[in-house]
Amino acid sequence: MGHVLSLDDFEVAARRHLPRPVFAYVSGGVERNQSLRANARAFEAYEFVTRVLVDTSKRSTQTNLLGRTWSAPIGIAPMGICALSAYRGDLVLTQAAAHEKIPMVMSGSSLIRMEDIVQANPQAWFQAYLPGAEAEIVALVERVKAAGYGTLVVTLDASIASNRENNIRAGFSTPLRPSLPLAWQGLTHPRWLFGTFLKTIVRHGMPHFENNYARRGAPILSASVLRDFSDRGHLSWQHIRMIRAMWPGTLVIKGILDVRDARMAVEAGADGLIVSNHGGRQLDGAVSPLRVLPAIVQACPELPVMIDSGFRRGTDVLKALALGAKFVFVGRPFNYAAAVGGEAGVRKAITLLRDEISRDMAMLGVSSVQDVARDCLLET
Ligand code: GLV
Repeated sequence: MGHVLSLDDFEVAARRHLPRPVFAYVSGGVERNQSLRANARAFEAYEFVTRVLVDTSKRSTQTNLLGRTWSAPIGIAPMGICALSAYRGDLVLTQAAAHEKIPMVMSGSSLIRMEDIVQANPQAWFQAYLPGAEAEIVALVERVKAAGYGTLVVTLDASIASNRENNIRAGFSTPLRPSLPLAWQGLTHPRWLFGTFLKTIVRHGMPHFENNYARRGAPILSASVLRDFSDRGHLSWQHIRMIRAMWPGTLVIKGILDVRDARMAVEAGADGLIVSNHGGRQLDGAVSPLRVLPAIVQACPELPVMIDSGFRRGTDVLKALALGAKFVFVGRPFNYAAAVGGEAGVRKAITLLRDEISRDMAMLGVSSVQDVARDCLLET
């Protein structure tokens, strides 16, 4: 991994390593990828105004969030189906996060049982997509509680499945359908075929969706099984209040872009918010979270406002902190790092980003993440 100098380099390596349908699933957005591009560009709207001759020799990236101290203001965002792109993907991500003392959010759309993840990393968070039926929501939250998670993230921006044309064009579906083109993709990516897919099947059996519900879901490869996608379009804030009443731990609401929804989440009892457009994977043209961040931070002073979608550099992270974010979650690059480098790859990715943040803080003239303030940015 000597050639990997930044998070973007992991993407280049993963593009070669992964079968096209799997890479397309991870890397893609929706429709015209407008939000995906907007997320990447949003950072260019700001430039830094640096200070000089400030003693930053004892600077630290340590950050307190929701009652814990983490080594940096960064975490691993929830990502579905990680165990398809990387061998034991979610486990590798959570072990790397535990070693590097950053939070990892386990996706509900995943192929390893949530219980195994929290056992490997008791500080892991769990992210749920709510089932459509109330009894199933209750059963899922009870399972997350029994598993021992302390933090539940509820994602609200996926009320229905989005229009992932890119997946269909690339031959990706859940479950994957056995076909000659799919077999060809496997055979032409032998390191993935033997090191991830077949190794998983031999050692752990056919992966299934394990955590969308309290019960097991569909297998990842099947000619005939249909996946049970919940329609959640009828859910309301009443369901969040219901979860709040039964969840004793920390409750984080993810997928907020509107100030009014942010206030609704606070009033429903959220302990934290993640401003997000789902990495540009839901409504194409949805605003980049960085643009709405300042107004949401201003409207919600009583809780930590976090953010994800498009972050790749230490400078990106510092811009969000300057605009009031308490913490930044990063997704795809850690997935790529797990795919090409396993746990060592993810630890390297975390280290690269943390080192960038530290180096950038020095050049900015700040010693602690709390000191990254609005006055270090100028709009372009
Ligand atoms: C799952 O969360 C996805 O965005 O694919």
